[in-house]
Amino acid sequence: MNATYEKLMKCYKSLRELTDFKPQLALVLGTGLGNFADTIRIAQRISYHAIDGFPTSTVEGHKGQFVFGYVDAVPVVIMQGRVHYYEGYDIQDVVLPIRLMKLMGAEVLMVTNASGGICEKFHAGDLMLIHDHISSFVPSPLRGANLDALGTRFPDMTDAYDPQIREIIRVTARKENIPLQEGVYIQLPGPQFETPAEIRMARALGADAVGMSTACEVIAARHMGMRVCGISCVSNMAAGMTGGPLLHEEVQQNADQTAPMFEKLVHKSIVAIARSM
Ligand code: HPA
Repeated sequence: MNATYEKLMKCYKSLRELTDFKPQLALVLGTGLGNFADTIRIAQRISYHAIDGFPTSTVEGHKGQFVFGYVDAVPVVIMQGRVHYYEGYDIQDVVLPIRLMKLMGAEVLMVTNASGGICEKFHAGDLMLIHDHISSFVPSPLRGANLDALGTRFPDMTDAYDPQIREIIRVTARKENIPLQEGVYIQLPGPQFETPAEIRMARALGADAVGMSTACEVIAARHMGMRVCGISCVSNMAAGMTGGPLLHEEVQQNADQTAPMFEKLVHKSIVAIARSM
């Protein structure tokens, strides 16, 4: 059997020995946004370390666990801490948790992250609905033999971010008086922040915000036929845009500050998305 598939199945079996929870929606929480998991009605927490073969997260500010529970009545699985490519994992390992959540039953994936704002109209602290992404600077998680049991060899990436769900999130934001930008997210490998020249390149390519995650996860999710949406917290303006240096602590602090608004948008959107299904 294919090694990637074998590892996935081993993790799935291990996880199923720990829980029979069946989520409807999967949520990935990014930097500074991890506390959302504490605001839901929690049924169970499972540390990534407890899952046989799971790539464990090392980045500061990430707890590294699945949280199972309910947002109002909607059964969700939350990744409190994601696996990043810059930590040294193979890209197939980075997306293993996404595949796992789909195998558990999640039909919708909501991804969140902190990003650097590239679009000149953005400000630190803005929330951005992800409209599309550029993944061309990181390897594809679908590289290698296709896992036919999961999806097709050449998956379509038109409307990778579900247009109907995007509209639900826009309407929700409007209703809740939450300002919401919209734009293209570019995933760069990191872990160093970009140079000003790289930011000018990303802007020329059509990117509005930059980060070190997400696009590869979305590719794996679309491969398996999940419907996807994403919200980015623009925690800082990208390199070269303000004159000062970029510090991870600042990224974390700004993301923390935006957290209450973000939590509200995520909560209300999840309920509205589930209602539409
Ligand atoms: N660049 C890359 N990743 C990020 C940034 C940034 O400016 N801010 C938060 N994550």
